[in-house]
Amino acid sequence: MTKPMPPHEVTRRPRLVIVGLGLAGGAMAAAAQAHPRIELVGAVEPDPAIRERFTAVTGLPAYADLDPVLADPEVDAVYLATPHQLHAEQTVRSAAAGKHILVEKPMALTVADCDAMVAAADAAGVALVVGHTHGFSPAVAEIGRLVRSGAFGRLGMIAAWNYTDFLYRPRRPEELDTSRGGGILFNQIPHQVDMIRTIATAPVTSVRAHAVRLDPARPTEGAATALLGFADGAAATLTYSGYDHFDSDELHDWVAEGGSVKTPAHGSARAGLADLSAEAERQARTDRLSFGRRKVARPAHQPHFGELVVTCAGADLRPGTDDVVAYTDAGVRHLPLTEHQWWPGRGDVLAEFAAAIDGTPVVHDGRFGRDTVIVSLAIAESARTGQEIRLEAPEPTPTPETTEGPVHV
Ligand SMILES: NC(=O)c1ccc[n+]([C@@H]2O[C@H](COP(=O)([O-])OP(=O)(O)OC[C@H]3O[C@@H](n4cnc5c(N)ncnc54)[C@H](O)[C@@H]3O)[C@@H](O)[C@H]2O)c1
Repeated sequence: MTKPMPPHEVTRRPRLVIVGLGLAGGAMAAAAQAHPRIELVGAVEPDPAIRERFTAVTGLPAYADLDPVLADPEVDAVYLATPHQLHAEQTVRSAAAGKHILVEKPMALTVADCDAMVAAADAAGVALVVGHTHGFSPAVAEIGRLVRSGAFGRLGMIAAWNYTDFLYRPRRPEELDTSRGGGILFNQIPHQVDMIRTIATAPVTSVRAHAVRLDPARPTEGAATALLGFADGAAATLTYSGYDHFDSDELHDWVAEGGSVKTPAHGSARAGLADLSAEAERQARTDRLSFGRRKVARPAHQPHFGELVVTCAGADLRPGTDDVVAYTDAGVRHLPLTEHQWWPGRGDVLAEFAAAIDGTPVVHDGRFGRDTVIVSLAIAESARTGQEIRLEAPEPTPTPETTEGPVHV
């Protein structure tokens, strides 16, 4: 593993408030509190017990409502880690208040909402970044840089697959209702689409997909597979299953998604939900996964999202546990992550957000997030209709200025 980079000298760091202290907000809080380019100054969370825990752990204020934060001139930026359906309205409101916005994936549930979010940020002159996704993972960013450098020849295809216990983690009721943004198509597929689009050398122009609901007790899509075609003739396949049977971390040296070392526990997520009512399950989510309930520490290894193999004319490339592995004509090479973040993954998100606030063009901005939503919705539509979806207005190809990957602290 490469050595963590020392923080840069900074004069005035943007002051950030986390909005929503559930699983995502809790995971970001520790990285944000320690980040050299962001200053965490508070949180918004309707649940009083979580607010109390946040203040006890961090010494920072926590508010029940977003309004006082938006009215506070001492706050520069918000990280919206709230349920999907709140992202659009909270982004538009935050932009109108002049706050820079980091919003969780999926950016929104409709393209119209994404457009409104981009327009609001543009009109207010504030930064809009969409993350965390595994498009920010250092090995993915590094593979993107290697592909675009041409060092391994033309990109031919990308294969991504991930098998998890996603569907059996305790869920809010809407997370099991596709019409309200539930299931893997809105929640997990955007990670794979973002990884693939971070590496690809042209826009997605066609989508063919198949998705399944295999458990009537969890009536939403829990597994899917898709074929994406790109304007330059390359293609990508993605496969995801969240049914808590096979765990593809087995193929990643039992390193978990976040980069920590993992103990195999097949079937334990299902067992942990046995006989819970919907309300008890919602409460279990808060009790088990919200801020302060899970151990969050700087990961020992690189974050990843299952297996990813990128085929170029001269080599296959894949993220290793601590590096990028290149299978070349001359044998296997382990390429170090030279621009490795001190807190890989979420540290990269915050670094890219800080860069965007400084006015630097970044990869995962609002337009990139919107185009990932367009591809994810096309996957859902193709799975529903059985038709190939042609994307008439493909997302723009990243320009050279915006393809250098995460900006490093
Ligand atoms: N990038 C990742 O790896 C990752 C991981 C988990 C979740 N997410 C995303 O983060 C978002 C939140 O998901 P989660 O799993 O943390 O959900 P969660 O249910 O664990 O947490 C959501 C939190 O938001 C709070 N909340 C609800 N309404 C609010 C409001 N109006 N203002 C402020 N807070 C409010 C809830 O009380 C809860 O504590 C989702 O869009 C999800 O897709 C991303």
